[in-house]
Amino acid sequence: MDIKSLVSQMTLEEKASMCSGANFWQTQGIERLGIPPMTVTDGPCGVRKQEGAADHLGIHESVKAISFPTGACVANSFDRDLIRRSGEVLGEECQALDVGILLGPAVNIKRSPLCGRNFEYYSEDPYLSGELAAAYIDGVQSQNIGTSIKHFAANSQEHRRMTSDSIVDERTFREIYLPAFEIAVKNSKPRTVMCSYNKINGTFASDNHRLLTEILRDEWGFENAVVSDWGAVNDRVEGIIAGMDLEMPGNSTENDAFVLEAVKSGKISMEKLDLTVERILKQVYAYMENRKEGAVFDYERDHEFARNLAAESMPLLKNDGILPLCKSGTYAFLGKFAESPRFQGGGSSHVNSYKVTNSIEAAKGINIAYAQGYITEEDRTDDDLLAEAVKTAQNADAAVIFIGIPDALESEGFDRANMKIPVCQEKLIEEVAKVQQNIVIVVECGGAIEMPWIGSVKAVLYAYLGGEAVGAAVNDIIFGDVNPSGKLAETFPHRLEDNPSYLYYIGEGDKAEYREGIFVGYRYYDKKKADVLFPFGHGLSYTNFDYGELTLDKNEMDDTETLTVTCKVKNTGSREGKEIVQLYVGNNCVPGGTIKSDKELRGFEKVSLQPGEEKTVEFKLNKRAFAYYNTELNGWHVESGEYKILIGKSSREIVLESAVAVKSTTQIKRVFTINSTLGDIMSNPKGQEIVGQMMQQANTGMDIDGVASVLGSKEALMEMIGNIPLRTLTSAMGAMGGNKFTKEQAEGLVQLLNS
Ligand code: BGC
Repeated sequence: MDIKSLVSQMTLEEKASMCSGANFWQTQGIERLGIPPMTVTDGPCGVRKQEGAADHLGIHESVKAISFPTGACVANSFDRDLIRRSGEVLGEECQALDVGILLGPAVNIKRSPLCGRNFEYYSEDPYLSGELAAAYIDGVQSQNIGTSIKHFAANSQEHRRMTSDSIVDERTFREIYLPAFEIAVKNSKPRTVMCSYNKINGTFASDNHRLLTEILRDEWGFENAVVSDWGAVNDRVEGIIAGMDLEMPGNSTENDAFVLEAVKSGKISMEKLDLTVERILKQVYAYMENRKEGAVFDYERDHEFARNLAAESMPLLKNDGILPLCKSGTYAFLGKFAESPRFQGGGSSHVNSYKVTNSIEAAKGINIAYAQGYITEEDRTDDDLLAEAVKTAQNADAAVIFIGIPDALESEGFDRANMKIPVCQEKLIEEVAKVQQNIVIVVECGGAIEMPWIGSVKAVLYAYLGGEAVGAAVNDIIFGDVNPSGKLAETFPHRLEDNPSYLYYIGEGDKAEYREGIFVGYRYYDKKKADVLFPFGHGLSYTNFDYGELTLDKNEMDDTETLTVTCKVKNTGSREGKEIVQLYVGNNCVPGGTIKSDKELRGFEKVSLQPGEEKTVEFKLNKRAFAYYNTELNGWHVESGEYKILIGKSSREIVLESAVAVKSTTQIKRVFTINSTLGDIMSNPKGQEIVGQMMQQANTGMDIDGVASVLGSKEALMEMIGNIPLRTLTSAMGAMGGNKFTKEQAEGLVQLLNS
């Protein structure tokens, strides 16, 4: 379709109407010109197509589709291919259900474990989030279905999500909250980006020219459409000026009138409006022209895929040799979640699931006795249920206790109040532990929880919200049909209070200050050398892997070059398994220099290995892997120095280490003033020479050795002198009885240094 020519045939009114949807889920159609409406739906982990009453909070029914594991679950797979494949499957379902854009992936950073929507988000790490988002987008869009990466940007809490102002400094914004979007936009070109509800440093995302035009389009080259989160538009006219193309949901004739008025008054130029309409129509026709008429999807096949996706993702966090369980044993399955699993989150991502598999039904042929143990909806211990569960556990070889967070405590639209599971569930573990030593815990919830009972159980499998086939997937792992290979995409602190955002989250009124800065997740815990319950990147397998032969293709490089890193990983156990090899770059940190985290994830690969098999894993690292965002340069900058190359089984289990010296090709010019310290000046070769001469000539009469011995060492003295600014030197030298060093001389020196 020649979109430009189509737009040229539209009246001003038609153009204005195109800028908002026709209703809750469709773009505007224009019959006169043959422009069809296009349906968009949530997303991200299943197709939620509403044909009756519409809402964006998961209240009304939608057509049946597969509920796949949520983002928080699949992220633990660290598996680009698998996530791409999940996107293809979702895309196929969209083709069959006539949905042109699937509203996902959701990539906001897990700043706090309390965010009610963490179950939808991938990770605390921006690189991992971005890589997985790109894979998802590639998969969905390979079926000619658009995606909508969301929620752009800095939308890491649900509390007051429509009015809050995320106050985040530029470096943190660039290093932590933007890269997931940046990676996905640059690598996978999503057809739409969804702007978030919140403000960013005082300006709503939907009005934010800097975000939607300067960063997204001018810097990252995004050429498609921006869509508002549902109801996120603040000022429609400012939005169009900022680059916010499609308002959803539609039906706002009032806003159309504002747009018309603004075009007539010249506030919005006709070119700008045309461009907005073109960007929207481009997405409509990208779908319409590749529509697979009559497409269908196989519910059973996709359900099985959901099971596989979950089993490949859930991390096994603890295993004192009890798992896998032998299928001929006798087991107690305890806890209501065994019967009614919690497998998806509340809100806009809520899918009308095709069918839900629980672990009891899925354990056909295995000797299982079930006891409910607790009431999910109430945090009240029911003594009869508890007694029954304890009795059931007593007679079994092992007890598998299903716990988690009930729907009412974790959802889109509000944040969690704490990191705990209900007391009645903790009580169940406590009482069962008195009669049964072999306890396996299966956790079903969207985010991290505290585990005060960890010492009394032998294994913990974290199912997250594992989709409609979760029950079967859990059994696949606990009975050993699948070897677990998931690794945590977020850190589990011991207690909520340990989390870096704890002091500031959820903010004061509408003010959400991201004061912990770049120290989010493992970046913080590492720097603080804090003990955690389970580190980022942790997950166990039923086999063992050995690592070796780390090689770097160079030991020195300019920041314009690419470093190739390889290492070997071998399956030394007796069964097939998959390992996630993680590469972290250890930052070059200098006291008093740029504040950085100890290390950052810059590469990961998932490899599948037969027993005894060995493979070589390769990583390519370029400038960005060593860079931080320099706010004076307004760009990425590498500080010259040595960087560690760390290969880990987790962020806390580094098994191979090497280093590379990276040289910056960008010189940052230092500006000297009379407030520059002698230390600053001496760190400049010219400065060192001049100050050296000056000190000699000055002849302060000071007994350097004497003073040094009083201070303890010559180094201490030099450090003290290094902190004196030039300004103070003018009086200090005179006072110490030396030659006078005038202000004029100081200014001359500054001039010389700056020249
Ligand atoms: C959510 C979005 C969702 C939209 C449409 C909003 O409330 O924040 O993620 O895509 O509704 O349902």
